[in-house]
Amino acid sequence: MKSFSTRAVHGGREDLRDLGVHALPLDLSTTYPLEDLDQATLELDRAVAGEIPDRNPVYARLHNPTVGRFESALADLEGTDAAVAFGSGMAAISACLMAARQHGTHVVAVRPLYGTTDHLLNSGLLSLDVTWSEAENVSRAIRPDTALVIIETPANPTLRLTDIRAVVRQAGTVPVLVDSTFATPVLQRPAEFGARYVVHSATKFLGGHGDVIAGVVATDEIRARELRQVRLMTGGLLHPLGAYLLHRGLATLSVRVERAQHSAGLLASRLSGHPVVRSVSYPGLGWASAPAWQRTQMRGPGALIAFELAGGHDAARALLAALRLMTPAVSLGSVDTLIQHPAGLTHRVMSAADRSACGIGDGLLRLSVGLEDPEDLWQDLATGLAAASVFGRSRACA
Ligand SMILES: Cc1ncc(COP(=O)(O)O)c(C=O)c1O
Repeated sequence: MKSFSTRAVHGGREDLRDLGVHALPLDLSTTYPLEDLDQATLELDRAVAGEIPDRNPVYARLHNPTVGRFESALADLEGTDAAVAFGSGMAAISACLMAARQHGTHVVAVRPLYGTTDHLLNSGLLSLDVTWSEAENVSRAIRPDTALVIIETPANPTLRLTDIRAVVRQAGTVPVLVDSTFATPVLQRPAEFGARYVVHSATKFLGGHGDVIAGVVATDEIRARELRQVRLMTGGLLHPLGAYLLHRGLATLSVRVERAQHSAGLLASRLSGHPVVRSVSYPGLGWASAPAWQRTQMRGPGALIAFELAGGHDAARALLAALRLMTPAVSLGSVDTLIQHPAGLTHRVMSAADRSACGIGDGLLRLSVGLEDPEDLWQDLATGLAAASVFGRSRACA
């Protein structure tokens, strides 16, 4: 098998030479001319059963060839049979929950999760009974009607890591969903450790340029069929133009993640020595002495850092207001550096008690490091930290 970065460049493009084109074809059709009614009926039956139509998609809610190319390229990178793409990360996650609901109404979830995932599970919208569990206690939370275990690693926003193999072991026959958005398949392939659903908010690193909102689930063919059925019925489609941009983004994914990760390591170590910073969470700090499961689960620590300011909410607001290069904005995984305040934004939908129980304090900031020169980034961050220092320090200046 060719190496990951080669497959990231060439995946889903195998037939381009035969087609006589170099760039990915973009098919924007909503409907398709039908040569023969009986043939079209068979194609429709296939789609309703969750299969990919053979020659004619019939209607774009059933299948789109540009989206299909992106799906097979992503599945190859995750090492799964198939992938199913959606119009957002939340559409992907809710489709997994809807598909799971056919097998049971109980879900076990480990915090922290992305705020809206947490909110969806807690909202009762999908009539699921949710048990919140620590990762070590998943086996105790499993019931006969448990249809899914949900984890996020690295977790948004605290960067907490969960041992996927250990959770899969505890879950037994219950499928485990891993939201692997922060890691990307460059750094982590949860299916290798037994996860049945690998979810990405493709809006983030996979697209990488902040111009596509999308989600994707990499899984086995049986579950992919269920997800295609949910997508067909509920319509949470990815637009082919989005799929085209995501597929193009895959080609540079390794280079982007590795470069951003390098800069994140530098910023994390400088942040951890700064007097205004109470704590830094970055998997790369202490990597050499990390448990073996962590070093074998992830190929590197990634490009996200969470850090807590001693001066709390006011310090966070002052830091964000002082920045001139980094963009204060939600989202992550873009070519440019983004920074945001989880308690006030991405995780505001959680109750204050739930936030604080999983380490999302009022002084916490989440930094998604981009591709700028790390010294320029540090200069900007240092200006922000100076503005934050008025509100509190965790130690005297060295
Ligand atoms: C880890 C994680 N999962 C899922 C989502 C939801 O994705 P989307 O915003 O594409 O719906 C996000 C969004 O920030 C996320 O960070």
